[in-house]
Amino acid sequence: MTSPSAVGLQAALRSCRHPVAFSRDLGREPVAATLLDEPLVLWRDTVGEAHAFSDLCIHRGTALSLGSVEGDEIVCPYHGWRYGTDGACTLIPQLEDPTRIPSKARAQRFRCEERYGMVWVALEEPRWPLPEVPELESDEWRTVLCGPYEWRCDASRQVENFTDFGHFPFVHPGLLGDPERPVVPQHEVEMDGHVLHYEIVRPEAPATDDFPVFANEEREQPVRRNRYRLHLPYTIVLRLGWGGDEGMVYFFASQPVAADQCAGYLAIGRNYNLEQPDEVLVEFENVIFGQDQRVVESQRPEQVPFDLAAELHLRFDAVAVAYRRAMREQGLAVT
Ligand code: FES
Ligand SMILES: [Fe+2]
Repeated sequence: MTSPSAVGLQAALRSCRHPVAFSRDLGREPVAATLLDEPLVLWRDTVGEAHAFSDLCIHRGTALSLGSVEGDEIVCPYHGWRYGTDGACTLIPQLEDPTRIPSKARAQRFRCEERYGMVWVALEEPRWPLPEVPELESDEWRTVLCGPYEWRCDASRQVENFTDFGHFPFVHPGLLGDPERPVVPQHEVEMDGHVLHYEIVRPEAPATDDFPVFANEEREQPVRRNRYRLHLPYTIVLRLGWGGDEGMVYFFASQPVAADQCAGYLAIGRNYNLEQPDEVLVEFENVIFGQDQRVVESQRPEQVPFDLAAELHLRFDAVAVAYRRAMREQGLAVT
């Protein structure tokens, strides 16, 4: 169901990689997912490789995700037709002559890969590679997965919220922001093709006993250096530092499910507190994302209005302005 105020999904988004599931949630059973209004079935073959097909059997339009996986084939639940990893139908049990499978009998297959603990799908040939985040593939770092955070808004609103500095002391007082220090420090945004670069050193709430997640216990007015790379359309790599060797990386990607629906996948890497149980960070992020969700789901329209005249931008909204511009320039948003 699409709300009347939603602008709609740009076709160009089909040529981008988007997360559709955490790898750990895709086992031997087929899983249904939706990407850009397109129903998908995800499944794994016998060597564990992930596949993404249109969730539709060509015979009678049944959802393949209701079926099962047998060996290297996915089996339709209605009449038992089977499809191999290349999408071609391999068996029609009702045929007298089993060799007479029409060539039209195929499942539509999409490009699917796994990285950073997530399953990625592009509905058309992707324009850009996935961001490189070596920390998430290093043995010296520990990665925690949080989410998926399913929100009733367009992926652009969820991503923009992740880039928004002004809200920290108000939406996350005592956790991410200090209400006594609401001024957003100066920052410049550089555009490098489809990637925005920016950096900010900002006041942070001290690590609390409830959530001792940041490496800043010793500092009275802690500041945190944040280096961002926003890869259009919906992926953010944020590297945090406190001036020492300790570092954190936040890798966030939002799945555009529909024009007013998205799911956020977060992978957090760190090279300190390696013994800390994952739940501490997961619970912390669940609180943060819950605080954000309430506010962001209330925003109208549900999608970021990419026309710069549509909302009121001040100097500290530089990232939002650059994001809107870049999305339009790359043909990812309505101009
Ligand atoms: S609908 Fe899938 S086999 Fe008939
Ligand atoms: Fe937030």
